Amino acid sequence: MKLGVNIDHIATLRQARGTTYPSIIDAALRAEKAGADSITLHLREDRRHMQDEDLYALKPLIQTKMNLELAPTEEMIQIAMDLMPEDVCMVPERREERTTEGGLDVKGNFDLIKRASDRLVNEGIRVSLFIAPDISQIEKAVLAGVSVIEIHTGHYANLEAGRARDKELIIIHEAIDYAQKKGLVVNAGHGLHYNNVQPIASIKGIDELNIGHAIVSHALFVGWENAVREMKSLIKEYSGQ
Ligand code: PXP
Repeated sequence: MKLGVNIDHIATLRQARGTTYPSIIDAALRAEKAGADSITLHLREDRRHMQDEDLYALKPLIQTKMNLELAPTEEMIQIAMDLMPEDVCMVPERREERTTEGGLDVKGNFDLIKRASDRLVNEGIRVSLFIAPDISQIEKAVLAGVSVIEIHTGHYANLEAGRARDKELIIIHEAIDYAQKKGLVVNAGHGLHYNNVQPIASIKGIDELNIGHAIVSHALFVGWENAVREMKSLIKEYSGQ
């Protein structure tokens, strides 16, 4: 199981003061040295953390691969087609949200999402859809022709260990099984941290976990590379690699 390190909140820290530090380039390159299998970033419509120029500066330097999260808007599709990241993960976006709060409604926005995804796939970009562990959404993702989905683990992450969380884990398991049977590559992420990653990393069939906020936060105490290394070794241990 791979680890995609989301570096958005390195940029959040920088944007808080409008400084040039902390460097997102350093963050990406050091994360890769520490074991990251990909570098994930989200270009939000309001540019609250990553800026367009960050993406262009990073693209030629990233040694692993760039996973660009974006909303399926015309502006973002144009940027992705110009930048050509290896992966694009389409996410829903609302300006007022604190973070990506739900999965894409592929059922409700099928034509828009399929059109956006087709354009990127035609350029050679691998497209993933960020969706809730909901079979009906996965069915639509299959119909949209994408090869990858990312299961939103935010609901799981918000629950304390106990029956409700166990139930959510069963739902996630079933969703992953279903997606795999349909031939999709399955990633997962959102809200995962050092104390709740075990049950998710133990699920067979997940290709990559995308984790950001917890790693950036932990880095304050142990250093950035160590924070990445620790998460990577937990994933390795729990996924039985
Ligand atoms: N995956 C996707 C699609 C996301 O939008 C995010 C947050 O940007 C993450 C993973 C990482 O979430 P977190 O920062 O909570 O680890």
